[in-house]
Amino acid sequence: MASAPSVAPVLAAGTIDQVIGWRRHLHAHPELSFHERETADFIFATLESLGGLELSRPAGNSVVARLRTGRPGPTIAMRADIDALPITEDTRLPFASTNPGVMHACGHDGHTAMLLGAVRELVARREALGGEIRFLFQHAEEVSPGGAEEMVQRGVMDGVTRVIGTHLWAQLEVGKVGVPSGAVTAAPDTFWITIRGKGGHAAIPQQTVDPIAIGAQVVTNLQHLVSRGVDPLDSAVLSITQFHAGTTHNVIPEVAELNGTVRTLDPVVRTALAARMERVIRGITEAHGAEYEFIYERGYRPVVNDASVTAEMAELVAQVCGPDALAPMRPVMVGEDFSAFQQKAPGTFVFVGAARPIDGAVHPHHHPKFDIDERALETGVRIFVAAAERWCGAP
Ligand code: NI
Repeated sequence: MASAPSVAPVLAAGTIDQVIGWRRHLHAHPELSFHERETADFIFATLESLGGLELSRPAGNSVVARLRTGRPGPTIAMRADIDALPITEDTRLPFASTNPGVMHACGHDGHTAMLLGAVRELVARREALGGEIRFLFQHAEEVSPGGAEEMVQRGVMDGVTRVIGTHLWAQLEVGKVGVPSGAVTAAPDTFWITIRGKGGHAAIPQQTVDPIAIGAQVVTNLQHLVSRGVDPLDSAVLSITQFHAGTTHNVIPEVAELNGTVRTLDPVVRTALAARMERVIRGITEAHGAEYEFIYERGYRPVVNDASVTAEMAELVAQVCGPDALAPMRPVMVGEDFSAFQQKAPGTFVFVGAARPIDGAVHPHHHPKFDIDERALETGVRIFVAAAERWCGAP
């Protein structure tokens, strides 16, 4: 498609070139979650150069910029995540990662650059704004417990009445924007199961308690929880992704270790599923004379888009990007700790289409050949700017 239609807000000359430059710099210098030191320094220095902001580094490698207008009005927050992934890049882009084994394979380089672009624009428009606009550059989105929660604990959401975030999305074509209401991402929980039996000779099973045979029953029965225990109109995934036991062909081992993930959108389904899992594991192991250990670790909360903020955002996206831009979007069962900010203020998380093929195919997020269409960056900047103008327009 052609470049974004020229409806308000019109960006200053040079903003988009700068955003692309920032994105390429960040892309070439990715850093892992909780280790984003140079990234945070770069963001801080860039914000300092834009001037007129109150800057802080509240937690970890996060950076927060406050644009206080000095006029009455609400405080709104806008968030970008800044971390990269442990992936070896295979895009052959001229600005590919120079940090071996680390790659911006989820688009967070673009998120950071878009938000910096929005800051540049909004600093220039501050005389037309009221209230406060708070820009949250969040470290460590990719690794639990995530950076958002500790930022919230340090008070970055205090006084905020609305929070918005964007994610560049390779599953949407450039020019399209997904603005889903309600649950958007899942709670990504992790579990570990240890089944302790009694080892022995493979040819004398009657003297053993075989943790492999019992573990196989556990795997099979856990599958029933989603298919038989969850309302078909609710969403849940239960995947067992590791099953380790044994050392050789003629020994029944003592222990089997299983590991996997549960993804849910609804907190009631989430709690019920964890409880039923334990019931199944307890029942099967007890029936066969084995012992078990069950560890269930809760990941991020689901991102749930507030109905009224999301409706306003959809209207705004239609104005900024054209009525055809709005794309239907179903929830995705990935995790995202933007939800931590939504605990403090109603907010919305929108998906900006950014599909760009490499070697003939659009590769998914977290893939070594993942890339974004840089035209999407302009869409993101304009959405942020338009949101600030709508909610913090001068009184
Ligand atoms: Ni991401």
